[in-house]
Amino acid sequence: MRIDILTLFPDTVHAVLHESILGRAAEKGILEINTVQIRDYTENRQCQVDDYPYGGGYGCVMMAQPLKSCLDAVIAESGDRRRRVIYLSPQGRTFTQETAKRLQRDYDQLVLVCGHYEGVDERFITSCVDEELSLGDFVLTGGEIAAMAVTDAVCRLVPGVLSDPQCYIGESHWDGLLEYPQYTRPEVWEGQPVPEVLLCGDHEKIARWRRCQQFRRTREKRPELYEAFQPVDDRDRELLKELSRADRCIRLTEPVSCRPAVESDLPAILRIRDDARENLRRQGAEPGPEIGTEEAVFRQDIERGECRVLLHGDEIAAVFTLSCRPEPSYDSITDGKWTPDLEACILLRIAVSDRYRGSGISDRLMRFAEQETVACGRRCIRTDTHRKDRPMQQLLRDSGFRYRGNLLCDEHGPRRQAFEKIIKLKKQKGTT
Ligand SMILES: C[S@@+](CC[C@H](N)C(=O)[O-])C[C@H]1O[C@@H](n2cnc3c(N)ncnc32)[C@H](O)[C@@H]1O
Repeated sequence: MRIDILTLFPDTVHAVLHESILGRAAEKGILEINTVQIRDYTENRQCQVDDYPYGGGYGCVMMAQPLKSCLDAVIAESGDRRRRVIYLSPQGRTFTQETAKRLQRDYDQLVLVCGHYEGVDERFITSCVDEELSLGDFVLTGGEIAAMAVTDAVCRLVPGVLSDPQCYIGESHWDGLLEYPQYTRPEVWEGQPVPEVLLCGDHEKIARWRRCQQFRRTREKRPELYEAFQPVDDRDRELLKELSRADRCIRLTEPVSCRPAVESDLPAILRIRDDARENLRRQGAEPGPEIGTEEAVFRQDIERGECRVLLHGDEIAAVFTLSCRPEPSYDSITDGKWTPDLEACILLRIAVSDRYRGSGISDRLMRFAEQETVACGRRCIRTDTHRKDRPMQQLLRDSGFRYRGNLLCDEHGPRRQAFEKIIKLKKQKGTT
């Protein structure tokens, strides 16, 4: 990329643009950034570049002739190129990251014309300029700061200028969002810890968290950008849905407890089951008979003392079944296997009320299931999920479960995904 900046202050502009990253790229020959003194192209003895405006008024206007001669000289010297002549002006279209991408992609020479005083003769703009760009809705004394901003933003997108395209992909404004928050050492600064997720080492989980942060902070800081944002892929669409559900959902302000379900809980349990079925349909998965969530099944779970409800205050927020009995359908695992020689508890019929989706209740549910498994003297939990139920698969992965293979729970139903978690028991103090 070659940039030619036509200015009355070439030394100042040159000094700034030959520092640091751009300076090094210029040294390597990846960029060529020239600054050209407009005054050198005047045709009068005083080297005058401006004159009084016709019709009267304050200040002076830059004359067309020196600008045109300067531009002609640059064009003659640089030869045939994909060139764009840009006049920096408060009247131009606002310069954005999209403009920077377009200029980097479509041209290999930009000629940036910096006005000064009251601006430049309109006839130069109409006959010589391809495009006017503004830095924003305010007025500067000259176009130099704007030209430097355009040069910097465009040049950092030129391959080889930054060490890796990942340095700018995902930054603020790359795809219409602001960047996620960044942290570096130390882990705790002035009592403020780094968000825990960034220390977990799970790259998939970190990527999801960061994308969610991008949505949240764009919505908070730049609502107009958020309104205009178009999801990039299905993952974005899913995360945005989760976010809007989380915003509508209840905050866990009261203690959350877990107890065995009783018969009078059944209406609430069935309502939550309906929410879960509806949610599954939203994922494009038709809940089939293999799911086994008929009323009679819950009744039986309750009678066996295996059905549990999670209470937020007095309200039933979620339900699950934890069984110590062997589950015959789990013997038919395919495309993988369970960890051998382990007695497991089976976690079934996990369902969360729509009102509590995104509230964090699912994480609590997983912790209760784990505690009860340990209380049964086991350290392995097995479960299965609909292959299209991606939020459930994500929850299981986030809770430390590993995919183990597929199950055919019903000979007419689709295969379900099998997950298993081996619980790591924390060492008691004093034990070896
Ligand atoms: C004082 S300004 C002239 C403003 C002009 N009289 C007007 O009202 O539109 C002098 C020069 O600064 C530059 N300039 C001022 N504000 C700018 C902005 N927001 N973006 C880009 N360049 C700007 C332009 O090159 C302009 O010719």
